Amino acid sequence: MYLGLDLGTSGVKALLMDADQKIIGSGHGSLDVSRPHHGWSEQDPADWIRATEEAIAELKAAHPGEIAAVRGIGLSGQMHGATLLDASGKVLRPCILWNDTRSFAEAARLDADPRFRKIIGNIVFPGFTAPKLAWVKANEPDVFARVAKVLLPKDYLRLWLAGEYISEMSDSAGTSWLDVASRRWSPELLAATGLGTEHMPSLVEGTDLAGMLRGELASKWGMGQAVTISGGAGDNAASACGMGTVRPGAAFVSLGTSGVLFAANGAYLPNPESAVHTFCHALPNAWHQMGVILSATDSLNWLSNITGKDAAELTRELGDDLRAPTGVSFLPYLSGERTPHNDAAIRGSFTGLAHEIDRAGLTQAVLEGVAFAFRDSLEALANAGTSLTRVTAIGGGSRSRYWLKSIATALGLPVDIPADGDFGAAFGAARLGLIAAEGADPHQVCTPPATAETIEPVATLAGAYDEAYQRYRKLYPAIRGAM
Ligand code: XUL
Repeated sequence: MYLGLDLGTSGVKALLMDADQKIIGSGHGSLDVSRPHHGWSEQDPADWIRATEEAIAELKAAHPGEIAAVRGIGLSGQMHGATLLDASGKVLRPCILWNDTRSFAEAARLDADPRFRKIIGNIVFPGFTAPKLAWVKANEPDVFARVAKVLLPKDYLRLWLAGEYISEMSDSAGTSWLDVASRRWSPELLAATGLGTEHMPSLVEGTDLAGMLRGELASKWGMGQAVTISGGAGDNAASACGMGTVRPGAAFVSLGTSGVLFAANGAYLPNPESAVHTFCHALPNAWHQMGVILSATDSLNWLSNITGKDAAELTRELGDDLRAPTGVSFLPYLSGERTPHNDAAIRGSFTGLAHEIDRAGLTQAVLEGVAFAFRDSLEALANAGTSLTRVTAIGGGSRSRYWLKSIATALGLPVDIPADGDFGAAFGAARLGLIAAEGADPHQVCTPPATAETIEPVATLAGAYDEAYQRYRKLYPAIRGAM
């Protein structure tokens, strides 16, 4: 048995998988986000431990015999968070999360130093870890002076599970301190934020062994033997392991709160200019790129809140057949945008509204706007040397066939729907747990699920979609100018 632990933003998921990769069950523990000031987003690391205990307790209550047989654990987690510890391993302040934007000025300052983009292959986004430390240095100097280690969220969980300061490449690539091509910490970039390699955990690959479960926790959870912990991965790379998106050319589109167009690469292919994220994959000698849009299902949820209709009802009103764009455009920048604009200040818009546009017309524009945001990411990946031939859809939004048809037509690519199953980050983490525990071949383990159905682009609407996309592209510079 293998346990995948995914430390998400809204909760911890514990997933149990057997040696044939059959999912036995899962448990959940909830988390809240604290937003004490505009743009702040924090969590107390003690809550991660509480939520993990809850998730494992739920799993143990349902599957006590199977829990006893766990041999390996894999970790996945929300990326970029800054967990600050003193020399005794004590947490110094609440963790500053991936979607916290307070350090936008520090991010811009670090990004203007040409060494950063050159070494990390990415823009220094406000959500990444290094600008958060620059903010702490400027605004909480007493805390900064006591920082002995900086850990990413899932690596703090590892410290509690195994008593070790270890991270792995995929998550560390999102700190702005990793030399992403050579997969090692950059002393130069650490020094630029007043830190050194001694403040960082040691590094392994996601598939490597990275600690053993402490005996005290193993006996509390009724685990009968030595339990290994693998390096694990940041949540997007972990999902990719779950989806089998590991070979060059494989890609998925994730329709969650945020939207991700993720492509696996066999080489390091940076393109910071178009705000593509280029990170190490969880497998050795592999990298990946992704376009990240900040409000995907969040855009539809926003419309749902203001219309008082739930999201499924809104999409049902559109029927099954893809409609031609109406002339209404929606820019989904409700909380700014990463790819392709790297603009924390821009906000969303509807344009082209007319008397005849009803609620369904607004829903249609929202779904198209998110589809066009993915098209922007597709173009950004193409500019970075990656052209895709098909994508697999995952995430809550992929339950809407209409949305998938809209995305297939906007991208001009077939969209595969995986056969029923749970191929998310916790499953990917469990796979990494298995690989490290058994010394298994990652490519044998991280295989793609069967395809249940493929949604093809609607050829008769390709021209109309293209026109609507060209209109969409012209709106960002115009609206930014007006704001
Ligand atoms: C990736 C990112 C998010 C978080 C969400 O760059 O910021 O996907 O990892 O958990």
